[in-house]
Amino acid sequence: MVKRPNMLNRDDDGAGEAQAPDPGLMRRLPLFTDILEAAYRRIPRRVGGYFLGGADSEGGLAENCAAFQRIRLVPRYGVDLSQRTSRADLFGRTYSAPIGVAPLGYSSAIWPGSEQALATAAQRANVPYITSMFAIEPLDNIIRYAPDVAWMQLYYFKDKQPSLDVIERAKRAGYKVLVLTVDSPVYSKRTRDHRNGMQFPPVVTPSLLAEVAMTPRWSLEYLKRPHPLPGNLMPYTLDPQGGTKALQEFLARTQIEAIGLGEFAEVRKAWPGTLVVKGLQHPKDAEAAVAAGADGIIVSNHGGRQFDAAPAAIDSLPAIVDAAGGKVPVMLDSGVRSGLDVVRALVRGAHFCFAGRPFLATCAAAGDAGRGARHAMGLFHDEIATALGQLGAASPAALRGDRAREWR
Ligand code: FNR
Repeated sequence: MVKRPNMLNRDDDGAGEAQAPDPGLMRRLPLFTDILEAAYRRIPRRVGGYFLGGADSEGGLAENCAAFQRIRLVPRYGVDLSQRTSRADLFGRTYSAPIGVAPLGYSSAIWPGSEQALATAAQRANVPYITSMFAIEPLDNIIRYAPDVAWMQLYYFKDKQPSLDVIERAKRAGYKVLVLTVDSPVYSKRTRDHRNGMQFPPVVTPSLLAEVAMTPRWSLEYLKRPHPLPGNLMPYTLDPQGGTKALQEFLARTQIEAIGLGEFAEVRKAWPGTLVVKGLQHPKDAEAAVAAGADGIIVSNHGGRQFDAAPAAIDSLPAIVDAAGGKVPVMLDSGVRSGLDVVRALVRGAHFCFAGRPFLATCAAAGDAGRGARHAMGLFHDEIATALGQLGAASPAALRGDRAREWR
């Protein structure tokens, strides 16, 4: 690991070590925007379309990133930076930086092994890793890779049994934070999946074979592992022959229902630990969530994958911070593409950020999930530390909500 004197790449509390970027990857993959393009070339077209794509016209996906770019920040000089730190406190833990991995369904199918790699790298870097209810690795494995930093994500289905089972299993496994995603009341239209003929689980067709032949590294890694099925839902999705018919039936009948306050109360009752609501965009919903007992909010539009006309998450953030009124931490994902974007969100009042595609894309672009995961952690740390220093802020907390830094 390369240590640089101007970088805060060490945690001394034994909680894990913030990583530096991989020097061997810096030339090819210095920016997450480069990484997203590079990843797309390394994976079969339909797989890339599934994970990089958004809903409908993908205008919302583009706007998530464009809105970050529009934010200009005014630096201050003459600030004492001798004790500079990127650390951030959340729910009683000090993480090494205010960034974590957002929940990503089927992500080990997108680059084989990436769930294990990202969870392991998150533990090492001491940042949160949220495992999806639709992850391929079962929640019991993830908490072994990331015992201190793994959080569990949940959808509360109309058919409640699978959701209640996951809550019980997460409790038994020792998870402390549950993230309830509420922004997917109906399935969205994923245009690239239609164009590419993407189905999950994949159906072998000549066009799929042609795509797979163009991406040999991905294909080799894919073939080394068992057929990717959502590990947390196995009892509900595995048919006795080990086929995927049961999964298809499960997905077809399991509408992800809109969560009313009644359903929220059921989850609150079933989960005594920290409960975070993910996917809020309206201040009134944030007020309702806090009043109903949410311990935190993630402002998110699901990375532009659900409602194409949604505002950019970074633009929804300030009103939600105001609505939360300092009672609970407000976090953000959707469109974060750099450590500087994390710092932009801090200025607008966020306590913490998450990113989805950047982490996953780095596993793919590196052609090695473990190396890519560590590089992504290092890049975010390095960029956050640099952006804080450039702005003249000694810590994330020192900057949070300092709206006067935003150029208008
Ligand atoms: C997601 N997201 C998501 N969210 C969730 O709560 N449960 C899930 O299972 C998934 N699955 C998923 C798969 C893939 C491939 C993507 C790209 C996203 C949404 C995710 O948690 C997060 O909100 C976005 O990824 C954030 O946007 P960026 O960082 O990808 O722009």
